[in-house]
Amino acid sequence: MKILSTIAEMRAAARAVRREGKLLGFVPTMGALHEGHLSLVRAARQRSDVVAASIFVNPTQFGPKEDFSKYPRSFERDCELLQGEGVELLFAPTSEEMYPPGAVTWVTVEGLSEKLDGKSRPGHFRGVTTVVAKLFHAVEPDVAFFGQKDAAQVANLRQMVRDLNFAVEMVVCPIVREADGLALSSRNAYLDSEQRRQARVLSRALRQMAAAYERGERNALVLAEAGRKVMAEEPAVRLDYLEIVDPDTLDPVATIARPTLAAVAAYVGATRLIDNVVLG
Ligand code: PAJ
Repeated sequence: MKILSTIAEMRAAARAVRREGKLLGFVPTMGALHEGHLSLVRAARQRSDVVAASIFVNPTQFGPKEDFSKYPRSFERDCELLQGEGVELLFAPTSEEMYPPGAVTWVTVEGLSEKLDGKSRPGHFRGVTTVVAKLFHAVEPDVAFFGQKDAAQVANLRQMVRDLNFAVEMVVCPIVREADGLALSSRNAYLDSEQRRQARVLSRALRQMAAAYERGERNALVLAEAGRKVMAEEPAVRLDYLEIVDPDTLDPVATIARPTLAAVAAYVGATRLIDNVVLG
């Protein structure tokens, strides 16, 4: 596995791949890799000739009071995991490389970037779309792989790709979970054992909503109420949002008539966790 730390090196390596007529797959990450990330790498491995991944803890997607400085970092171990999955190219730039002094240009998906997580994390999606646009320019992948875990991120990125004509095919992979339902997340590392138990309530609430949907319930208010009732079983877990929305526009849906996103975000202690399920 080649590790590239500058945009120029990354671009040269990627262009060499494409000059040979090979299909380049790309998995962007912030590191602290777990099975969720590795599922994307495996999907990329299956669908592309050469796989590139990136590890960059992107400062611009963290709010001033968020966990940027304490975000888990495990570069050596991440490299071993990526190498083990057959990744050929790893882009691992510094903050200075990605954001040289004087950079003032942003990519903002207007409207969408203020919904769901964008409401409680102002500026978050602007940071995500800006860095992914920059990563796409450095790697110029044919196909890029993202997790359904971050459903609102997927909506923002899909819109950006459409609006800015990126020649990238977007592939979205299913959520990888622990045996008890908790969605894998780098932030799960912040939870102590009691919080780890409490955190199960997110996936439990979503399962309850999915079960009600399967029984024929199509009224979003009724489904959301069923989810909120489960969330209330863990009073220590503070609900940020529980919403039933269109997966593309992230606008609330009243009656479910086509695949619809049920998404939840909640604080377990100081740790903000998200999860979702698609109904239908
Ligand atoms: P990060 O949180 O490291 O996640 C990298 C990718 O892994 C994202 O596409 C995310 O949705 C996916 N992922 C995380 N947990 C998952 C799980 N349990 N199952 C399936 N996929 C999972 O998302 C980011 O980084 C950043 O915002 C990034 C896109 C890299 C831009 O900085």
